[in-house]
Amino acid sequence: MPKNSISPEKGKDIKKEKALEIRKSTESDKLEIENIHTKAFGETEGPKIAKLVRDLFHDKTAMPLLSLVAIEGEKIIGHILYTKVKITQTTEPVSAQILAPMAILPDFQSKGVGAQLIKKGLNLLKDSGVELVFVLGHPGYYPRTGFTPAGVLGYEAPYHIPEEHADAWMVQELCSGVIGRIKGAVQCSDILNQPEHWRE
Ligand SMILES: CC(C)(COP(=O)(O)OP(=O)(O)OC[C@H]1O[C@@H](n2cnc3c(N)ncnc32)[C@H](O)[C@@H]1OP(=O)(O)O)[C@@H](O)C(=O)NCCC(=O)NCCS
Repeated sequence: MPKNSISPEKGKDIKKEKALEIRKSTESDKLEIENIHTKAFGETEGPKIAKLVRDLFHDKTAMPLLSLVAIEGEKIIGHILYTKVKITQTTEPVSAQILAPMAILPDFQSKGVGAQLIKKGLNLLKDSGVELVFVLGHPGYYPRTGFTPAGVLGYEAPYHIPEEHADAWMVQELCSGVIGRIKGAVQCSDILNQPEHWRE
């Protein structure tokens, strides 16, 4: 197939051909962002995650945060939030963030939007001097964008992660040489540090 031809599979068109618009969210995006989380996470979880996002936007201990939206046409189709974490019990100070939560509108899932949001966020965080980024998520998904299990590298999660889910607690360095040199315990913002966000 010639290099620039459009793939017949709809999902792949966006994945390979179309550059998404991704920008920092604004105050006026907030309701739409909540709506995306409500729809993506479903009836039971959705409203709880929408509230988590709302609360994180007001959590001073989560700052600086990075909130990005993906736009298709005029519509916001995806959102990602990174918030500040502290690494305690460490010998050196280190700048770190956690990815949570992220959501793509159901009709736009599996088209590469999530991956683009993650990568754009990591690039912006790197530019602002962030050295480590954590995530608690599916071990089949996040390693595609560079995350690797964090527990075995010496990064303790805010709450105990059961052995069978240990790989869900992940990290990646944005600055080479940090992993291996710095270990410690991760303390999230006040809102994200609530135990309900760390149960299955
Ligand atoms: C998870 C989510 C953010 C991924 O975004 P996305 O744009 O759909 O993902 P991408 O297009 O970048 O990647 C799609 C691939 O990831 C896989 N994937 C998506 N969610 C996954 C999950 N929870 N576990 C494992 N793999 C997953 C898809 O099967 C697909 O695989 P393929 O490329 O082999 O077909 C999105 O599906 C979503 O909003 N889900 C509901 C909310 C949620 O679970 N958020 C994440 C927790 S914070």
